[in-house]
Amino acid sequence: MPINLNINEQNLKAQEGETLLTVARREGIPLPTLCFLEGLSVAGSCRLCLVEVEGSSKLQPACALKVTEGLSVKTATERLKRYRKMIVELLFAEGNHVCAVCVSNGNCELQDLAVQMGVDHIRFSYQFPERKVDLSHPLFGFDANRCVLCTRCVRACDEIEGAHTWDVAGRGQSAHIISDMAQPWGSATSCTSCSKCVAVCPVGALFGKGVSVAEMKHQPAVVDFLASARREQNWHKKEEQ
Ligand code: SF4
Ligand code: SF4
Ligand code: FES
Repeated sequence: MPINLNINEQNLKAQEGETLLTVARREGIPLPTLCFLEGLSVAGSCRLCLVEVEGSSKLQPACALKVTEGLSVKTATERLKRYRKMIVELLFAEGNHVCAVCVSNGNCELQDLAVQMGVDHIRFSYQFPERKVDLSHPLFGFDANRCVLCTRCVRACDEIEGAHTWDVAGRGQSAHIISDMAQPWGSATSCTSCSKCVAVCPVGALFGKGVSVAEMKHQPAVVDFLASARREQNWHKKEEQ
């Protein structure tokens, strides 16, 4: 039975079990995302996809919000725009993002979001945290200064590769990404060097060794391809399309 809902005064139909983000994307309604990635489980942690739900004072993340009959939401109010811009600014302020010397300069989802939201300066104090760069893996590097804690690497490594090398340690401001038992990536015996974590990182935190400034291009769509190929047992999907 189709579900009737309303997005931005537009009456739409959806299927039971779908999320608001899925419906919005299908209908061409723009919604910014960072932690969400097609093919991975939903983290709902970055809060960039927040929407206003009629009858509720609480903002809800569209990536985690399952559609229900009569659901009515707004996705682009001034309040939401203000929050989203603030979230992006806070991400810049809490890490050390020096775009001019970043491997992902020009190919970075955080930069793209900042451009979309008209971020031309940061209104918050930079935290300048002391964070390490891990170059112990023979093929890849991890620069924690640029990590936005989206956990895409954690989920891709666990759910798609089945290695579970990455995890989040600590809470709140001290939360950070670790490999195996908080040891250097190069000594993490669970890592198969498959590169899936590098492919899905939205920023320049995970990169291939040997790439220079602005050369790192991530391939986040790879996990959706693998997830749906496994689900449908069709490994030729791309060629057929
Ligand atoms: S290279 Fe593969 S196995 Fe190693 S940490 Fe990344 S996703 Fe996990
Ligand atoms: S290393 Fe990249 S993919 Fe992993 S949590 Fe940090 S920003 Fe996200
Ligand atoms: S994309 Fe929905 S909370 Fe991150």
